[in-house]
Parts: sequence; C-alpha cells; structure tokens
Amino acid sequence: MTVAGVPVAFEGIKKRFGAVRALRPVTLDIRPGEFLTLLGPSGSGKTTLLNIAAGFLDPDAGRVRIGARDVTAVPPRARNIGMVFQSYALFPHLNVFENVAYGLRARQVPRANLVRRVEAALAMLRLDGFAARAVHQLSGGQQQRVALARAMVIEPDLLLMDEPLGALDRQLRKHVQLEIRRLHAEAPRTTIYVTHDREEALVMSDRVAIMRDGRIAQIGTPVDLYEAPDSAWVAAFLGESNLIPVQIRAADAAHATVDLDGLPGRFVLPACPGQPPPGPALLLVRPEALATGAVEGPQAVVIEVVYLGELTATRLRLPSGQDVWSRAMNTPPLAAGQTTRIAWDPAKARLLPSEVAGGATDRKEEG
Ligand SMILES: Nc1ncnc2c1ncn2[C@@H]1O[C@H](COP(=O)(O)OP(=O)(O)OP(=O)(O)O)[C@@H](O)[C@H]1O
Ligand SMILES: [Mg+2]
Repeated sequence: MTVAGVPVAFEGIKKRFGAVRALRPVTLDIRPGEFLTLLGPSGSGKTTLLNIAAGFLDPDAGRVRIGARDVTAVPPRARNIGMVFQSYALFPHLNVFENVAYGLRARQVPRANLVRRVEAALAMLRLDGFAARAVHQLSGGQQQRVALARAMVIEPDLLLMDEPLGALDRQLRKHVQLEIRRLHAEAPRTTIYVTHDREEALVMSDRVAIMRDGRIAQIGTPVDLYEAPDSAWVAAFLGESNLIPVQIRAADAAHATVDLDGLPGRFVLPACPGQPPPGPALLLVRPEALATGAVEGPQAVVIEVVYLGELTATRLRLPSGQDVWSRAMNTPPLAAGQTTRIAWDPAKARLLPSEVAGGATDRKEEG
C-alpha cells in the first residue's frame, strides 16, 4: 500500500444546472494524504464537487489536478480514484471476494497479485473469513466495509466518499467512523469525504470545508472552525451558538469594547482576527462558555432547565428579551422563574459580522 498520497487541487470550478449555480466558483487545495471533509446543508454542492473530482461531471470552468496531472479532461476510469457511495452499490450476484476484486480484474492485475491484494484489503477491514459470503448474508456495516475494501484495494491516488455511513444506524456509524479513521492513520491516502453530520466531520477530518450555496464558506481544522468561525452562519451550523447583538464602541489591536443591546455596562473582550469594525456586530458565546450563578454580570431570568445526564442546559432570558443557553456540569441548582447573573469567558467569546438572515441575498450574486 502507498503510504503517502498525492495533492489534489480544484481551481475556480464552476458548475450550473440550468438556473441553479451548483458551484460558483470553488477553489480548494488538498494536501497529500489529507482527510478533507466537505460539510454543508443539502443542496450546497458537495456531491457535485465530488462528481467533478471523479470525472462523472465536467465543470463549466476551472481545472482539477490530481498529483502532477491536470485531469480535467481525463475520463473517470483513467483517474485512479476509489469511490464509496451512500448506498453500498455492491454487486449482488458476486461474493465478497469478487466484489473486492472487481477493480483489479478491470485493471487486468495478474491472479497471484490479485489474490494477495484482495486478502490484504479484507484483513485490513477485518473481513477475513467473509470472502466466500454472498453480499446479502452480510450486515449493513459489513457491506459498507466491503464497499470500502473495494475502493481501497486498487490503491487509488484519491479516495472519494459520499455520505458512506448515511444508511447505518447510529451505533454502527460510530463504529465504522473509527474504522475509517484507523485505516487512514495506518495508510494515509488523500481522501475527500462528504457528510452533513457535523459531529462526524469534526471527529474524522484533518480539515473541514464548509459549503454553503455552491461556495466554501470556511475551511480549517475542526478546532479552528469550532473555536474561530468567521461568520455567524458557520458558528450556528457547527454547533449550538448564542449570538447576541452588540454594538462595538471601540476597538484596537488588543481589545474591543462592546455594549450589549438592552444591557447596562460595557464589556471588554480580547480582539479576535477578522473582527468587524465599530458598529453593530454579533457576540458569539457557545453554551458551554456561558456560566450562570455569577457574582457579577448581567441579570437573566431562568426560563427552563433541561437535565442532559452529565450536563445541564439552562435557557435564560436577557433583559433585551433574547433567550440564550448555558450548558455546564455541576451547575448550582436553578429553577424556572429564578433570576441569576450570567458571565462568559471573554477568551472564548468572539465578535462576528452581523449578517442578513438566510442565504437569499447571496443567491443573486454572479458566480
Ligand atoms: N443533475 C442535476 N440537474 C439539475 N440540478 C442538479 C443536478 N445535480 C445537482 N443539482 C442541483 O445542484 C445543487 C447542488 O447539488 P448537490 O447534489 O451537489 O448537493 P449536495 O450538497 O450533495 O446535497 P445533499 O446533502 O442533499 O446530497 C442543488 O441545488 C441540486 O438541486
Ligand atoms: Mg449529495
């Protein structure tokens, strides 16, 4: 098995289907051996980009490079790509061995080499002993592992996976997620993985590209994206977010001074990169960074308390009328109707541009 992978590049890729701008434009560099996830809502262009990487669709503009090759005009079978789809798409009339061997037979790999490679792929996916089984005699998770073995056995330069775990139940999905991570750690191979499950994206990826309306809204490591989203949309998409309207009164390289709408007092926050200029903005505070029972801080009324096992979530109403959530372990017991003071860790709060709700405005832009 190859241990390193090749770089992959999308340069200014555009694609439209009639009036729909599916990609407008997308530029993305993937490092050798990187596990990159495309994460985004339904219709954001993830499958379209994957199909362009595979060669099943031609872009209207732009270039695709795999390794040193410009493959924009190269047909799928000459791209050395492995693909795994949401529906396993195994051949029902072939047994496990023959399903995995399929790509090697198509490449006319000699028999001894073929057997060795299929057996190695089956062992890697812990399917030894299943070679002679018919595919209908396998569980969903086993079938998906056969699909993975079939994609990996050809030692592709690029592995593409489009929601490969979508058909599995939650427990099995977690298990196969860890298997895929283990395989990637053992034999890193450039991989583009598509999901709309944010937790799956954060758990599995070296980097995540968040897609919105045919563009990459933000790209970064899971930690970068979760802790330093550059828009309210990305913050809200990645996890529960309190987005509190504020006015930035003053800002320098180190600090920003803000007023919270409807609250007395000023708050000083450490400056963050990409912070908006003085004026209206949104203060992002994740529920886990918002504490109740503070000695100082704005007063809020407890609306509801939700017991989540190890954590307690508390919905609080600010004087402005906005509700925010706090989520913590071992919080002092609070009851609905009670008043408490809230506080947040300034180092974990971020100032983001106010944005017009929804994507309706960017739909009209030229791509
Ligand atoms: N063959 C097609 N003909 C017309 N429109 C298409 C075609 N394929 C995709 N689209 C449109 O392009 C946009 C992007 O579709 P795409 O399948 O890439 O989304 P996606 O991010 O994979 O969504 P999902 O999470 O639902 O799979 C959507 O608006 C979709 O309706
Ligand atoms: Mg899709």
